[in-house]
Amino acid sequence: MSKATQTSFASLASGIDRAAKNNVPTTIVVFGASGDLAKKKTFPALFHLFSQGLLPKRVSIVGYARTQMSSEEFHKRATSYFSPDASKDSVKEFLKICTYVSGKYDVDADFKALRSAIDDHERAENIDTDSERIHVYYMALPPSVFVDVAAQIKRNVYDDTCTNRLIIEKPFGHDLESSRKLSKDISALFDEAEVFRIDHYLGKEMVKNILSLRFANVFYEAVWNRHYISNIQITFKEPFGTEGRGGYFDEFGIIRDVMQNHLIQVLCIVAMNQPQSLSAEDVRDRKTEVLSRILPLQLEDTMLGQYVGTKDGSKPGYKDDKTVPKDSITPTFAQCVLHVDNDRWRGVPWVIKAGKALDEAKMLIRIQFKDMPNALFPKLARNELVIQVSPKEAVYIKTIVKEPGLSTSLAMSELDLTYKTRYHDVKIPDAYATLILDVLNGDHSNFVRSDELDEAWRIFTPLLHQIETEHVKPLPYEYGSKGPEGVYQFVENRTGYKRT
Ligand code: NDP
Ligand code: BG6
Repeated sequence: MSKATQTSFASLASGIDRAAKNNVPTTIVVFGASGDLAKKKTFPALFHLFSQGLLPKRVSIVGYARTQMSSEEFHKRATSYFSPDASKDSVKEFLKICTYVSGKYDVDADFKALRSAIDDHERAENIDTDSERIHVYYMALPPSVFVDVAAQIKRNVYDDTCTNRLIIEKPFGHDLESSRKLSKDISALFDEAEVFRIDHYLGKEMVKNILSLRFANVFYEAVWNRHYISNIQITFKEPFGTEGRGGYFDEFGIIRDVMQNHLIQVLCIVAMNQPQSLSAEDVRDRKTEVLSRILPLQLEDTMLGQYVGTKDGSKPGYKDDKTVPKDSITPTFAQCVLHVDNDRWRGVPWVIKAGKALDEAKMLIRIQFKDMPNALFPKLARNELVIQVSPKEAVYIKTIVKEPGLSTSLAMSELDLTYKTRYHDVKIPDAYATLILDVLNGDHSNFVRSDELDEAWRIFTPLLHQIETEHVKPLPYEYGSKGPEGVYQFVENRTGYKRT
């Protein structure tokens, strides 16, 4: 690797460098430490950072929830949060920095006790409270208690002699109005600079890679517009249903659960203009700008589906879940055509598609180019650039080549950058580990700003309200299928997409 390349790689990796060198004493409080997210994501991500030496040297983690248990009992419980492959010694060392405080979410005395626990710990560790310290409050909690807990933190825990950071999990409201109310309530308590709204898709390797691909390579930016691109599809497919989460899901549906946040975030990074710099505000300004140019979704540009059980009865339908009302019309599948009304994209249809209980696990961005305008090789298939976010990180370009050998025919092939093959020694971190590291570094680039959120809800709210007031029924599709009947024709008819 050339020296120049090494230098630029090192500067791009500055987030990691900073974390390793960050010695600011830090306390991380995880609210909802007994819950599902804490178990599946928050604590494993913190453990990952700890075992890689990426947490500050003087760090303490406090779990908080209503469930009564001692720190020792919490340690026992938390041991099951980590992969069986994790080194037992590392887990033991990690648990030494974890304590647990039990308390309600609306009782002043309980939050005062939490503040005392933090103060006691800082005193015991001889942490100088006149010097820089960071307190992170991670709300791994149901949204119904976000504002109460934020108010309690502000009233009884917040320490204005240190840097305070509040992490909030989605959903951020359920429509434009409720999201604005949530933002207003939170902003009455915390500055926007203190708030980190997590959309974990922004921490995924291939989503973070989009900016580098687009703005560090001369050839992508040159064709990244309506003159060369015919249509773009952003697809999210899961091969399992809402099993066990039906209660939550029925209130939200697939549009709110996945599209209004994860997919629209990905879309705006693909669509945005180049930011002035990589600073968080410059990046978020550009994202907000492109979001503001997306026209509100129309019902006629939307296909809705809900899965039913398999014919052989081996897989249940959505409404077989006991927590789902028998007459539910909540969509578990949706695909929508969007339009970005600016000079770069006018006339290019964008399809976002998301579904539960489909035929495979896949998240990808498919950019289909226009027909090749030459007469030398008529009727060529179209080029496509595909960025696969999961399950296997990859970027490939469908490229036409001469068939190898004596033949003079053409064939479709691929310029293939599959990460596992090219970077076999690199372990790609979980999105949550990346994002928590960003919070520790005070980097907002991969978090959603309140004006971005507002624009995202503006695009979806009229459609969501129309679906609800007109009781629009979703089309049935079988668990494990590709979606409702006509799923591909819908896209081809509206976008001119041609199969390659
Ligand atoms: P849980 O339902 O597991 O709740 C977390 C904890 O909050 C529980 O352990 C419980 O702790 C407490 N709690 C539960 N219900 C209530 C209630 N009604 N009032 C007060 N406290 C309650 O939630 P998750 O961990 O699944 O999710 C937390 C947040 O993360 C949510 O905003 C969710 O949308 C988001 N999220 C979750 C994902 C996941 O995979 N689970 C993925 C992406 C986002 P105790 O009773 O001990 O206080
Ligand atoms: C969550 C949704 O935000 O994202 C889930 O609530 C969905 O319904 C999940 O399964 C998908 O995340 P990932 O990282 O597994 O693609």
